[in-house]
Amino acid sequence: MGSELSALKGRDFLASGDISSEQSQALINLAAAIKSGQRRPRLEGKVLGLIFSKASTRTRVSFTVAMARLGGQTIDLNPSLSQVGRGEPIADTARVLSRYVDALAIRTFAQSDLQGYADAASIPIINALTDLEHPCQALADYLTMQEAFGSLEGLTMAYVGDGNNVAHSLLIAGAQLGVNVRIGCPAGFHPDPQVVEQARALAGERCRMEVVVDPGCAVAGAQAVYTDVWASMGQEQEQSEREQAFKGFCVDEALMAKADPAAIVLHCLPAHRGEEISEAVLEGPASRIFDQAENRLHAQQALLASLLGADGLEA
Ligand code: CP
Ligand code: NVA
Repeated sequence: MGSELSALKGRDFLASGDISSEQSQALINLAAAIKSGQRRPRLEGKVLGLIFSKASTRTRVSFTVAMARLGGQTIDLNPSLSQVGRGEPIADTARVLSRYVDALAIRTFAQSDLQGYADAASIPIINALTDLEHPCQALADYLTMQEAFGSLEGLTMAYVGDGNNVAHSLLIAGAQLGVNVRIGCPAGFHPDPQVVEQARALAGERCRMEVVVDPGCAVAGAQAVYTDVWASMGQEQEQSEREQAFKGFCVDEALMAKADPAAIVLHCLPAHRGEEISEAVLEGPASRIFDQAENRLHAQQALLASLLGADGLEA
């Protein structure tokens, strides 16, 4: 686990594909070891800045608590209260903040804005969700799947709904981890073809990356069934149009009956009960949704410890 993770020191995590397959698996294993108490990396004196231009409960709080558990601190750099919100250039902001804090976790709209921070900063920049990807989420998601099944190789992750940021990170990270990923989404809401191609190239012969239009075909025999909101942050005005387009894509008990009988249910949250997921499935025995939310904390401790070079990762 050690040498792969030591190589992450000082690096950015802007997208799932920024790390290797081995690093992705090693981060998940370190997260599991941190969760069990077997590993306790330390980041005393280190400070993480949070720049969130969109709402967040889980990501903001889990990054804050992750730093506290590692012995470090977090500063909330609310964009509406800093000069970022008044138009100070990203490059200037990134250079100044690099003199104060040790890493930045950024939630924003365009991936190019995140890249702009990374280009100018001299500290690690972490994607805390953009319109393109949610890579920290995918680490927690596959940790949750590994906990349920012991290992990930050869399992199938079915994602039903919008081919969005969460679907993109599941594709890339799944390809790295040897998980077959099947995306079921209506025509017009498919994942970005470039992301699908990237995932297929990473997967090679090891696992399959598929996009289908029938939710039943997507979940057939799958070990995990995952969904997310139909309208992501920034798409609120499309809500009613999307409710029409996604009719038949609700993860309910009838759809779950087509999955592997041992299948788990995942959702990154927040959820819209009665839209992308039924109340019965969200609260049912197959749901690992609240373990998944907890796992954000453990996965991000593993990520921060690696990017900030915590001692003892070689153990
Ligand atoms: N899943 C997730 O990223 O949740 P938040 O928007 O609450 O951070
Ligand atoms: N796809 C959702 C995920 C929220 C955690 C969004 O971008 O709003």
